[in-house]
Amino acid sequence: MVNYHGRKEVSNILTSEEYEELKGQNFLKLSVSKTEYFDLFLLGVGLYAPLEGFMDEDDYYSTLEQFTLSSGVLWSIPIVLRVSEEEARLYDGREKILLTAANGELLGLLESPRAFKLNKILEVEKVFKTSSPEHPGVQKILGENKWAVAGKVKIYPPAFREIDLNLSLFPQKTREIFKSRNYKTVVGFQTRNPIHRAHEYLQKIALEIFDGLFVNPLVGETKGDDIPADVRLKCYEALLNNYYPKDRFVFATLPAPMRYAGPREAVHHAIIRQNYGCTHFIVGRDHAGVGNFYGPFEAQEIFNTLPENALEIKIVKFDNAFYCYKCGQMATKKTCPHGPEHHLNLSGTKVREMLKEGKSLPDEFTRPEVAEVLSRYYQSL
Ligand code: ADX
Repeated sequence: MVNYHGRKEVSNILTSEEYEELKGQNFLKLSVSKTEYFDLFLLGVGLYAPLEGFMDEDDYYSTLEQFTLSSGVLWSIPIVLRVSEEEARLYDGREKILLTAANGELLGLLESPRAFKLNKILEVEKVFKTSSPEHPGVQKILGENKWAVAGKVKIYPPAFREIDLNLSLFPQKTREIFKSRNYKTVVGFQTRNPIHRAHEYLQKIALEIFDGLFVNPLVGETKGDDIPADVRLKCYEALLNNYYPKDRFVFATLPAPMRYAGPREAVHHAIIRQNYGCTHFIVGRDHAGVGNFYGPFEAQEIFNTLPENALEIKIVKFDNAFYCYKCGQMATKKTCPHGPEHHLNLSGTKVREMLKEGKSLPDEFTRPEVAEVLSRYYQSL
C-alpha cells in the first residue's frame, strides 16, 4: 500500500463525548469561511496529511517559495485560516479557540493559535501564476483578510452538515476498500464536472492497465457556473451504473474547495489521492484550469520539475481526447490521423448554451443517461 504523504497518517477526530464537553466550554469562537470549512474537514480526516492544522508562517512562506512545507515535504497550496488584524490580536496566544460554521454550529477546535501576516500578492502570483482579478481564485483571495491564525485542529465530522459522510469517505476507509478488493494499483480521477465521454475514455484506458479506478469528484466549493454537486451526483450514478463493471471502481466524493490553480492544484490533487491510497493519478488536458490562464498541458509539465521521490503517487498523463467521426470512436492525436474538422469539440460554454436552449447533447459527447439528467436540470432553472 502506498504511504500517506510525508509518511504520516493523520486523524484528528473528536469523539462524541469530547465534542459534547467542548460545547459546554467557554473559549473564544471563530466562524470559518466556506473554503476553510472544507479545508478544516480535510485537515481533520487526514486527507491533507502530513498537515495537522492550518499553516503557520513558516509553512505558508515555504509553500509559496520552496514548494514544500517547512519540513521539506512537497506542498503546493497554502491552507490557512484567514482573519482580520483585530481578530489576529484577539486570538493570538490563547490556549484554544472553537471553530464554528457560518450558522454557528460547532465544528471543532484549534489548539494554541498563533497569528501571522499573509502576503496576498506573493500568494496569488505563486499559486495562480497571475495577479489578474479576472482569475476567480485571485479575485477571491484578494478580497479576503490579510492575517491568519495557525494551529493544530480537531474536528467532529457529523457536525459538518454540508458533507455527506456516506459519500465522502475517510482515507482509512478507502485504503481498507482497496485492500479488500485486492487492488495492487489504483488510479485516482479528479473531476468537477459531469463525466463526459472524454473523461470516460481516459478512465477506461486506465482501467485496461490498473487494478482499480477511484472515481473521486470534487463536491466542495466550486464557482457559480460549474454544475452543482447534487446534479453531478445523479450524472455519476447514471453513468457508473450503466457503463462500468462494479468490481473495478470505487466511488467517493471529495469535499474540497476548488481553487482553479491549474498546475499547483494538480499537485495538490495528487497529494490528496495518495492519501486516499491511490498509486496513480490521471492528469489530462488543462487540469484544474480556468479560462486561458494555463497552457493545456502545464498541469502535467509541473510534475517533471518536482524532485524525484517528492511524491509516491505516479502521474498518468493524457493528451486531449475527442470523438472522431471518421474513426467512429474516442481518440487523441496519438491515435487519430484525421483533421479537426472530423472531431467533435464542445467547450463548456457551448454545452451550457445548448442545454439552456433545450437542445440535447450528442451521444458522442456524453452518454444519453447523463445528457438526460443535465437537460432536466437546465429545464428546471
Ligand atoms: S478539473 O478542474 O477537475 O480538472 P474536469 O472535470 O474537466 O476539470 O477534468 C477532469 C480531468 O479530466 C482532468 O484531469 C482533466 O485534465 C481531464 N480532462 C477533461 N477533459 C479532457 C479532454 N477532453 N481530454 C483530456 N483530458 C481531459
